[in-house]
Amino acid sequence: MNNKTKIKFLKLMAALAVCAMSAVFLNIKSDAQLQERFPNLAPLPEVPQTPDNPTTEAKIELGKLLFFDRRTSGDVSTSCSSCHDPHKGWGDGNPVSKGYPGTVHWRNSQTVVNAAYLKKLFWAGEDTSLESQADSAVTGNLAGNGDPDTIEERLAQVPEYVRLFKEAFGVERPTYPLALKAIAVFERTVVTKDAPFDQYMNGDKKALSDSAKRGMELFQGKARCIQCHNGPLMSDESFHNIGVPKNPLFENDAQRQIALRFQHYARGVSEEVYRGADRDLGLYYTTKRPEDKGKFRTPPLRYIEYTAPYMHNGVFESLEEVVDFYNKGGGDDPRKSPLLQSLDLTKQEMNDLLEFLKSLSGEEIIVEEPPEPPYAVLDE
Ligand code: HEC
Ligand code: HEC
Repeated sequence: MNNKTKIKFLKLMAALAVCAMSAVFLNIKSDAQLQERFPNLAPLPEVPQTPDNPTTEAKIELGKLLFFDRRTSGDVSTSCSSCHDPHKGWGDGNPVSKGYPGTVHWRNSQTVVNAAYLKKLFWAGEDTSLESQADSAVTGNLAGNGDPDTIEERLAQVPEYVRLFKEAFGVERPTYPLALKAIAVFERTVVTKDAPFDQYMNGDKKALSDSAKRGMELFQGKARCIQCHNGPLMSDESFHNIGVPKNPLFENDAQRQIALRFQHYARGVSEEVYRGADRDLGLYYTTKRPEDKGKFRTPPLRYIEYTAPYMHNGVFESLEEVVDFYNKGGGDDPRKSPLLQSLDLTKQEMNDLLEFLKSLSGEEIIVEEPPEPPYAVLDE
């Protein structure tokens, strides 16, 4: 090859490379293709039922009382509703949850709203059913710190519970496993139904503002949220590292460090990882694969308007901050998902995206706290 042909050849190769690169680029940028590759956004279906714990009115009534009853915790101080308060989006409103007295929690308290739809519970998907989740909440040392035998004894001494357990389960005496079942059935009633987004998807084209409609397009296109937040729940129930920044709480609060270190220890990490503990490692505790450090379950986005602060460590106070974070391409963790890249959204586009996020929530779900049914002295 002489010099001239060499230059021609190089030019040709360069042109080919540009073509190939722009094809890849276009492929990524094509909104229609993004939408096709992932499960469609859709209205919420009926709540899935559990064959061995079907929903009945009596179980709902019992489960509701138990959800608000502090006697399901060790020192009768802490009910489920202490950290899942209907007036705080069914979370506790703190960046990182409060804990059982004498402790603080290490993760943000999640909303209970729509948990009924999830196959993987907790920030890193460690649990798989509401029934078994309720057990870890009642007995977990940062949550209820309760002893099942003692709790059974307490329930047996409340005439209203004796009556309701009989009505709900046909038993003469309350038992702990049945209490968990009733709580789970109550949680299956705490779901969103009326979100403008659902109304829109069900045919009411006026339910969304023009801005929210543009936001929905962005969500599925330029903003690329659909890659992980998809299907009716807006979650792929898979795990991703999006590079959420550390919460400084864990650097300047001894109690939080105790909670964090204890969780590392209890989850069986190596001594080196335990000693270096400065943040939540997410899915890693379950798999112990280094590449899973910092991966969390994609959270559903329904009811999001009411559940600030956001992320597993509550590091973002508002949805504005969250959208800003994604616009910059997420955080700067070396293990961050390649699915995130900076988005170049304009101010208007960010507003539209926020309008769409707000349209997912619907009316606030308020259940007033029922009075605790009283103990009675037994006479036999
Ligand atoms: C001391 C605070 C506290 C108490 C008490 C508590 N929780 Fe939680 N709850 C949390 C925190 C924090 C999380 C997230 C924990 C994690 O990811 O490891 C959570 C997670 C959950 C989830 C998972 C939601 C999801 O999206 O995966 C459910 C369901 C739940 N709690 C129900 C309950 C029930 C039922 C009770 C009472 C039996 C209860 N909680 C008691 C703080 C609490
Ligand atoms: C690569 C997958 C992925 C993509 C893409 C993605 N998310 Fe997320 N999202 C997650 C994960 C995982 C979390 C939880 C991270 C954590 O707590 O560490 C999350 C958390 C959130 C939260 C906080 C939820 C809560 O309950 O605290 C919001 C809001 C959110 N994402 C909105 C969006 C929007 C809007 C987009 C598009 C601009 C988007 N996400 C793109 C995976 C993704």
